[in-house]
Amino acid sequence: MSIELPIYLDHHATTPVDSRVLEAMLPYFQRDFGNAASHSHVFGWRAEAAVEDARERIARALGAETREIIFTSGATESNNAALLGVVRARAKRGNHVVTAVTEHRAVLDPLRAHESSGGRVTWLPVDSDGLVDPSAVEEALCDETVLVSIMAANSEIGVLQPIEAIAAICRERGVLFHTDAAQAVGKIPFDLASLPADLVSISAHKLYGPKGCGALYVRNKRPRIRLEPLLYGGGHERGLRSGTLAVPLIVGLARALEICVEELSQAAARAAGLRDRLRAAIESGLDGVVLNGHPQQRLPGNLNLSFEGITADSLLIALKDVAISSGSACSSATPEPSHVLLALGGGAERASSALRFGIGRGNTEEEIDWVAEQVIASVRGLRAERRRGASVAQTRRGG
Ligand SMILES: Cc1ncc(COP(=O)(O)O)c(C=O)c1O
Repeated sequence: MSIELPIYLDHHATTPVDSRVLEAMLPYFQRDFGNAASHSHVFGWRAEAAVEDARERIARALGAETREIIFTSGATESNNAALLGVVRARAKRGNHVVTAVTEHRAVLDPLRAHESSGGRVTWLPVDSDGLVDPSAVEEALCDETVLVSIMAANSEIGVLQPIEAIAAICRERGVLFHTDAAQAVGKIPFDLASLPADLVSISAHKLYGPKGCGALYVRNKRPRIRLEPLLYGGGHERGLRSGTLAVPLIVGLARALEICVEELSQAAARAAGLRDRLRAAIESGLDGVVLNGHPQQRLPGNLNLSFEGITADSLLIALKDVAISSGSACSSATPEPSHVLLALGGGAERASSALRFGIGRGNTEEEIDWVAEQVIASVRGLRAERRRGASVAQTRRGG
């Protein structure tokens, strides 16, 4: 079977829209284009019905209640709305938040802003596998703690945090718990009927839905969460998020999530199989390869490897027909090694020689085998070049 180049292995950055999702969205761009807030005619009623239907289906897929789902522009907005919304609403009770150093920047940056405006944040470390220790969360809690935010799955190293244990601790201590589940929902089982999380962020484009759409789950009962909105205006989304609803995107998010949940067990097994195949092939052809992140407690489609003696940037150039990344997509413009890899404690060299392979629905065994061959050949080539460079330098020095 022939393979088509380039090969996309960057499914943590984004995913293509599934054609079933696109089909569900299409009527809402033209035929049913109404504003869901127009209450005086059928165009508005149809749009509103589509949004409410999507809300119900998303709630069902997450084990939530319909009214607990708020639509946003994506997980960045959901995280900001949850974190800043809680700290502003609870300012009288306290100003302390607990999080981990390996969170996505969409959590780190709003919390840095909270610190800049006088709030207090505990930045928990992770162990060498990238895991947060739930007992460290417990020890960090104090009377002023209003919120704990720990992501469900890491976007770089795929590590799945022990959020069940952390959420249970928070519940027992009466502290709100938020999780950024942008990488987890739709990829691993996620059920709010059993997980005592109070706020959850999700994003459509990570699960074969459209870019520019996400949702925030806000617990409605035991306890009912009060948030200070980030956006004021028309009072949409029960006043929590003003702005005309993106009807086609919301319909797309619902369909995308439904498909992911329906197909989750086969998709996860398939992605994990391809991931293990890629790792085994690369490791059988190369030495000096180190896995970043916990070997088992990780997303099925995530492989993050460091290659001794080379930089990820040179490897990315050599692998021009493979779409992969050396850090998270949003920060790969910055030359510094990723904060997540540095937090594992393996040093800057290991961090700057790391590549993230994000396997998704469309990838095949043939593609994986081809990529493994390319990686092996490129790493061997770069290492040989480096050795030649080192020996030329030595000869020049007269060594
Ligand atoms: C864990 C995590 N949180 C938040 C985001 C931001 O999501 P969005 O692109 O929907 O704003 C991403 C995407 O890179 C992510 O991986």
